[in-house]
Amino acid sequence: MYQGEPTLKQADQSGPRGCNTAAALAGGRIREQFPILAITVHGKPLIYMDSAATTQKPQRVIDAVTRHFTHRCSNVHRGVHKLSQLATESYESARETVRRGIGAAESQEIIFTRGTTEAINLVAQTYGRQRFAPGDEVLITAMEHHSNIVPWQMLRDEKKIVLKVVPINDRGEIDLNDYEALLTDRTRMVAVALISNALGTVNPVKEMVKLAHARNIPVLVDGAQAVGHDVVDVQDLDCDFFALSGHKMYAPSGIGALYGRADLLNEMPPYQGGGDMIATVTFDKTVYNGIPHRFEAGTPNIVGAIGMAAAFDFLQETCFEAITAHEHDLLQYATEQVSAVPGVRLIGTARKKAAVLSFMLEGAHPHDVGTILDLDGIAVRAGHHCAQPVMDRFGVPATVRASFAVYNLRSDIDELVQGLHKVREVFCK
Ligand code: ALA
Repeated sequence: MYQGEPTLKQADQSGPRGCNTAAALAGGRIREQFPILAITVHGKPLIYMDSAATTQKPQRVIDAVTRHFTHRCSNVHRGVHKLSQLATESYESARETVRRGIGAAESQEIIFTRGTTEAINLVAQTYGRQRFAPGDEVLITAMEHHSNIVPWQMLRDEKKIVLKVVPINDRGEIDLNDYEALLTDRTRMVAVALISNALGTVNPVKEMVKLAHARNIPVLVDGAQAVGHDVVDVQDLDCDFFALSGHKMYAPSGIGALYGRADLLNEMPPYQGGGDMIATVTFDKTVYNGIPHRFEAGTPNIVGAIGMAAAFDFLQETCFEAITAHEHDLLQYATEQVSAVPGVRLIGTARKKAAVLSFMLEGAHPHDVGTILDLDGIAVRAGHHCAQPVMDRFGVPATVRASFAVYNLRSDIDELVQGLHKVREVFCK
């Protein structure tokens, strides 16, 4: 701290202060921490059910961002002056908070990125580009987000590797036997979502890692939809890389992280060149910095990292036991209530699901459903959810997707159901 910097209020300090319960979350007190939930949309109270696209931000995160700009704004790793030292301290302490939040062994294994997309591109363009040879295989699943498909396709076109895809069944699940059968002596990487953004399926990633590791194949996990909804422990998953996005876990957008095992990161070439990723530069030769800085060229998203650390503190304080129980209840209730609306077809009925409900309403295009719901202040996503192959698999152009977070209530789902009946009056007479 410097002289004049306000002492942090108790509410702004990191670390848990006693846990919530699922019943408390169901009672809705936590909503008071999300100022945006008090707004109206088209004159109606906002009912936000698009958290798989982005979550709303608690006051604690907003305060952390404001506090940084008000009292600590400076560049990191570059200044001898006090503010720069304070900004560096906040930024590096955010890295440590992320490490703790996902159970990594060392903070140097956490690289700040723009989000999951950049994290996966980083692995493809460094690890993949360095190590893959023509004919090598990367194995993904049929439920991946475009961000876990396109980077590998780009590499396929450049390095002549082969992209293989584990199929999914009509519920939106993979079969571990199909997966195992696709692991070959040419497989160089498995890249899989822990939770599907379009279907809500929770994949058996721990088992998938075991099967891959038995053949010395590394595994990258896309954790974008998982962090913030359940405990994530990369050491327990035993994955080699793990990608996450801040904005899907109550933090700002434009910040995320790549976890990579230190021994792998140490062997990987840089991703982008620029300031901070170097040890020394002459016109003849550049010596690169060590990890994690080697992968963070240029001034990073300092305030984003600080906001993400505040979001991890928020999650720890809210308690995952309560979060998972509450979101599970919302999913069950929504599944019962929405599927009882005539003409609804659920897309994604896996036995193990996160709080994502994708569906079609017969006779109405998903975009029309989304637009009519919006008039009642109900925000859902309508589209292909950046997972066009999933839409193709189910033979639909798009779905309506309601996705839930800590601040949703059963009454939000009741409003959704009423809204769907209104849509039916317009389109399904
Ligand atoms: N990937 C984000 C979603 O699922 C944008 O909506």
